[in-house]
Amino acid sequence: MTQQFEAFYDWSKRELNLQLDGYKQKQLQRRINTVMIKSGAKNLREYAEAIKKNADIKQEFLDYITINVTEFYRNAQIFAEFEQILLEKVAPRYPNLKIWSAACSTGAEAYSVAMVLKKNRLHEQSKIIGTDIDATILRKAKEGVYRDAEIKNVPSADLKKYFTVTNNKYHLNQEIKDLVQFKKHDLILDRYEKGCHAIICRNVTIYFNDEVKNKIYQDISDSLVVGGIFFIGATETIYNPKQYGFQKVGSFIYEKIE
Ligand SMILES: C[S@@+](CC[C@H](N)C(=O)[O-])C[C@H]1O[C@@H](n2cnc3c(N)ncnc32)[C@H](O)[C@@H]1O
Repeated sequence: MTQQFEAFYDWSKRELNLQLDGYKQKQLQRRINTVMIKSGAKNLREYAEAIKKNADIKQEFLDYITINVTEFYRNAQIFAEFEQILLEKVAPRYPNLKIWSAACSTGAEAYSVAMVLKKNRLHEQSKIIGTDIDATILRKAKEGVYRDAEIKNVPSADLKKYFTVTNNKYHLNQEIKDLVQFKKHDLILDRYEKGCHAIICRNVTIYFNDEVKNKIYQDISDSLVVGGIFFIGATETIYNPKQYGFQKVGSFIYEKIE
């Protein structure tokens, strides 16, 4: 890593509490360069100054390095498999479910779980938590307003039941919004929830280096009860699940066994 990037990372850890050296470097540095040039800064020192002084530049930087794409029931077939394992294996054993959608972006994933629990009348005794590193995206999650592309997998009956459409925007109803608690959480730096029955952590570890990824998998395992499940992204694989006390039970689903 160049000295400039090292200094910038030290600065962003100190000032923004962001641990950027845990991310895959080529990809991340390319993104930082792009957004730096867009801001008009000529080098990383100038860029750090600009981030400090200008709230819009700071927000643009945070948005750009944390890629927020998401949708309801992302990879619908795989999500259906998660739903089936949750209902057939986990819920009978643990009727009061605690489910954590980590790196939840705008909350579509956490709200998809809320709809599943509601449909199966498990919502009243269960708890759903949605977390992300990005405070702005969490505000959007709490608002619960979505575009066409984000709701394309929502069954039409649920669309009618749980959303109100205004100006081509889909507003999620309060009864579903009330089922999810959102809070800020950094997967690299913060402590993890304990006693979870399912953790969904998809499409974020792809940005991390192996060391960070290993630690996250171990922390997730420690957060799950035995028999709890871990749902990963469709482009992700855990090569040595046993190392973390997991066994594979679905295409992208692992059960905590010890
Ligand atoms: C591509 S989205 C994934 C959203 C959702 N899980 C899905 O699969 O549709 C990645 C999210 O990870 C969040 N993120 C990035 N680094 C993070 C970190 N260190 N801790 C927690 N969340 C992080 C970003 O803010 C972003 O909202």
